[in-house]
Amino acid sequence: MDILILGGTRFLGKFLVEAAIERKHNVTLFNRGSNPDIFPEIEQLRGDRDGDLEILKGCKWDAVVDTCGFFPGTVSKSANILNHVNHYTYISSGSVYKDLSEPGIDENAEVNTMDSDKVEEITRGTSGPIYGEYYGHLKALSEKAAEKEMPGKVLVIRAGQLVGPYDYTDRLPYWINRISQGGEVLAPGRPQRPIQIIDAKDLSQWIIRMMEQNVTGTFNAVGPEYTLTMEQLLQECKSVMNSDTRLTWVSEKFLMDNQVEPWGEMPLWIPEEYPMPGKDKPWIGFLAMSNKKAMKHGLTFRSLSDIINDIFAWEKTRSQHEDRKSGMDLKRERKLLELWKDLKV
Ligand SMILES: NC(=O)c1ccc[n+]([C@@H]2O[C@H](COP(=O)([O-])OP(=O)(O)OC[C@H]3O[C@@H](n4cnc5c(N)ncnc54)[C@H](OP(=O)(O)O)[C@@H]3O)[C@@H](O)[C@H]2O)c1
Repeated sequence: MDILILGGTRFLGKFLVEAAIERKHNVTLFNRGSNPDIFPEIEQLRGDRDGDLEILKGCKWDAVVDTCGFFPGTVSKSANILNHVNHYTYISSGSVYKDLSEPGIDENAEVNTMDSDKVEEITRGTSGPIYGEYYGHLKALSEKAAEKEMPGKVLVIRAGQLVGPYDYTDRLPYWINRISQGGEVLAPGRPQRPIQIIDAKDLSQWIIRMMEQNVTGTFNAVGPEYTLTMEQLLQECKSVMNSDTRLTWVSEKFLMDNQVEPWGEMPLWIPEEYPMPGKDKPWIGFLAMSNKKAMKHGLTFRSLSDIINDIFAWEKTRSQHEDRKSGMDLKRERKLLELWKDLKV
């Protein structure tokens, strides 16, 4: 198949390119060229999807994967130009759901929406992806925009926390990096708290298979197939890296009392007992979504140790001085661990 990937050069997109090539597809990328040296053997069309899409007009592809649609207007525009294709995959997010307070959220649950004036206001006021308050609303509206432009041809992938090499959120990399350093590590909340991740390689290979089979519709894409706990994840990190780290589990109350920021400062921690800032209920469902439909359609998961190994190998290529997007400062961690011990005596 001839496949166009809108994006393709940062994280998930790289794995999509590799998965498509592995399956002998012809791949073209469309992006602004921020990572110009990647994939020199692949045709790359340059352009800003928020601006002029002239370069896409008149070209023909069988399928498109849209990794970088953050605004419904932008998604509409490219989907409209590309509506000759047979299949359009839109990479969405589990953040689309309106109520994240219950586990087991499936694809039929209600999604966020907002009125067009607000969408207009946000779209005009920002450039690039929004990871803030309206990210999920805009993703939900972008799903609809794609479907409106090419009814019946759209595969919507509502991904959970993506993990793998090149992960620019630094969430799982924080834990891998921290545990590889050894010593006493502060671990958040209840060890048995469920957690979900989706490996970018697993997801990409599945998306290409779904495209080949012309499957459309909406799918949560989270893993693994069993209930993974935070403790299992951190223990697996320890074991893969052969680390002598000691995990000290501190309560959610302690973290909240000390203004530890969930998800950002303490990656992969979403409190079970407290709402996220600005929300009214705890987000129990965010890391406990249903993946039954995706599994029924062939989503498979590599082992946790393989996933961690790959990220660890990538971590070794990174500088310790590189700016990290998330995670706790070592000094702050030390201080909190001392405070925790003082509380316990
Ligand atoms: N990270 C997570 O945990 C997570 C979870 C759920 C869902 N998601 C979703 O997964 C997707 C992640 O994709 P990724 O960043 O890994 O994909 P990617 O395809 O590897 O990288 C994003 C691509 O989009 C291109 N791009 C960005 N803005 C553009 C513009 N205005 N015009 C043309 N090209 C543009 C970038 O290249 P240039 O900069 O060169 O243009 C880059 O190639 C997003 O849609 C995100 O919402 C992520």
